[in-house]
Amino acid sequence: MNTSRRSFLAGSLGGLAVLRASAATKPHFFFQYDPQVRKLLSQMTLDEKIGQMTQPDQMYLKSLDDIDNYHLGSVLSGGDSDPKTGNDLNSWTDMYDHYQERALKTRLRIPLLYGVDAVHGHNNVIGAVVFPHNIGLGCTRDPKLVEAAARVTSEEIKATGINWGFGPCVTVPQDIRWGRTYEGFSENPDVVKVLGEAANRGLQRARLDDPLAVLACAKHYMADGGTTFGTGVPRVGSQRFGLDQGDTRVDEATLRKIHLPGYATTVAGGVGSIMPSYSSWNGVKCSASKRLMTGILKDELGFEGFLISDYAALNQLPGDYKQQIETSINAGMDMVMVPEHYVDFFHHLKALVTEGRVPMARIDDAVIRILRTKFAMGMMNPKNPQLADRKLHKTFGSAEHRAVGREAVRKSLVVLKNDNHLLPLSKNAHVHVAGKGHDDIGIQCGGWTITWQGKAGATTKGTTILEGIHKAVAHSTVVSHSLDGSHSEGAKVGIAVIGELPYAEMMGDRTDLHLDAEDVAVIQKMKSAGLPVVVVLLSGRPMLLDNILGSADAVVAAWLPGTEGDGVADVLFGDHKPVGKLSFTWPKDSSTSLQRGDPGYKTLFPFGHGLSW
Ligand code: GLC
Repeated sequence: MNTSRRSFLAGSLGGLAVLRASAATKPHFFFQYDPQVRKLLSQMTLDEKIGQMTQPDQMYLKSLDDIDNYHLGSVLSGGDSDPKTGNDLNSWTDMYDHYQERALKTRLRIPLLYGVDAVHGHNNVIGAVVFPHNIGLGCTRDPKLVEAAARVTSEEIKATGINWGFGPCVTVPQDIRWGRTYEGFSENPDVVKVLGEAANRGLQRARLDDPLAVLACAKHYMADGGTTFGTGVPRVGSQRFGLDQGDTRVDEATLRKIHLPGYATTVAGGVGSIMPSYSSWNGVKCSASKRLMTGILKDELGFEGFLISDYAALNQLPGDYKQQIETSINAGMDMVMVPEHYVDFFHHLKALVTEGRVPMARIDDAVIRILRTKFAMGMMNPKNPQLADRKLHKTFGSAEHRAVGREAVRKSLVVLKNDNHLLPLSKNAHVHVAGKGHDDIGIQCGGWTITWQGKAGATTKGTTILEGIHKAVAHSTVVSHSLDGSHSEGAKVGIAVIGELPYAEMMGDRTDLHLDAEDVAVIQKMKSAGLPVVVVLLSGRPMLLDNILGSADAVVAAWLPGTEGDGVADVLFGDHKPVGKLSFTWPKDSSTSLQRGDPGYKTLFPFGHGLSW
């Protein structure tokens, strides 16, 4: 918040009333902690200030003592940065305590912010409830449900002691060939701004110092989902490819209309951190843009928390490393997710300050923002335990938490097609279940699950779609299954669970969105056995269906539902009616351009489509 607004508020009761009125949406004002923050700041050395701005990945820490040697204010576990003893709950909790204990022995005892990508539940940890990815939650149009899912997520994050989740992603994907489409609630900013704020509220709770709250992080600022195809990160040698981390080429009016709303609502909702995007706006990297990071976000929107860079994002800026640091910090970056060369970062930034290339006022502003957040989180209250509260292990992955996940799955499903009212299915008729995703929790969870990219197989605990079907039908009903659709003799209906294998970020950029031959064959095999077929599509985006739409009798978009696969059966067998509505436009077929807005773009199912009964 800029000083003029603060002095206005501090100076007049009327202002206070305005403050209180807007507090209805914003639970805390970080600047209210400034007296304590400034007192602490006055005791800090330059080294200690720079340490608060430095975030290594824990897997690159050369020594535990580097937490003290470099006065570190934060560490993260990026994708695949796991405990050495495994991905179980105790290992994650022990790892957090191991680092936090060391931080609490430093001169100023400023606790660490420990960040992870808990983007659809505490998805790194085996046994956590993994929720539908945002594309599925977007189809629920249900902010209360999104908030409830985020509350479960924050509680399960805190069970490991960890206090910072790098979400919600408030991207507004405009081209579904982008590998991160599924991290977005919708192509429509009105859906994104409401659900993004709900997720922020669930993670940060009514008060950031709630023991079950975590610091949220709206990302990736800004217009990460608006990049131009072919400007993405090189994926094959120097061949520039795809969309991820590319260049968004729009005027400022379009930028504000499409890509800003999720930040406006989460800032108004008191989000404590925001992550600038790897991508560029009209050729300028977001992590180097003073216009975006300071002008629009801090000065205009009054963002009082702090900016955390993306993973090694500074290395993509022009110049050598010292120049990159100078550019980004002076443009408004407050904390840097280094994540490996934190010693170089520390020394370069210190030199930049002593050489006068980064003003001490900029360092102080960054550290004030970081410390405000720690005070608001109750981290600086010596009476508050900073080590993990292991009593929370009791509810980790509990039936109550899973029920929220199951409801989210149910409400995320979109029935695209339902010929002859095939759905809902009878619970008493022999059903044959097939396809790569029919009994595979890794596939139904997708990327960012246990591992960065996610992977097929029994990667974590939960209910597969097949297991959910077994539980849903009558005891006497036969449920047969096969991977390829064979051996369906005697069945009355076939269910083909097909779609995409897990991926994350640039690894999911695709030019061809057709289903693979294996998926098409599953449907054909059951059709040739004379069965009507329900297709359940597991995907991180709309796919081209022209090679199956004619033969599928019903099609249900299940997105990436997560661990509670029984939510799928709840709808297929009629225990719950489908309520999901497409949050992305669905393209028609191979002849269509995939760039919405192109004259050559053809729609199969419009935004908002979804059948019920
Ligand atoms: C990744 C992603 C970002 C994530 C960060 C830390 O590259 O871009 O969403 O929060 O690095 O893992």
